[in-house]
Amino acid sequence: MADRTSREYVICPCRGVTRGEVEDAIRKNRITDLKVLCQTTNAGTKCGGCREDLEKLIHEILGN
Ligand code: FES
Repeated sequence: MADRTSREYVICPCRGVTRGEVEDAIRKNRITDLKVLCQTTNAGTKCGGCREDLEKLIHEILGN
């Protein structure tokens, strides 16, 4: 499995969405809201287990 911090890391296994895809979507669309991020990338729309990680990623990218 790829390192959690790598772009290839599958942050949402349910939907097969990688960390890199989520990062790009957050930057490109300036997403600050988890719901919007889920709608945009399709990540987090099944079991919901990755939502906490998605939320963290939003803060990581926009928060500093
Ligand atoms: S791991 Fe993302 S919805 Fe299940």
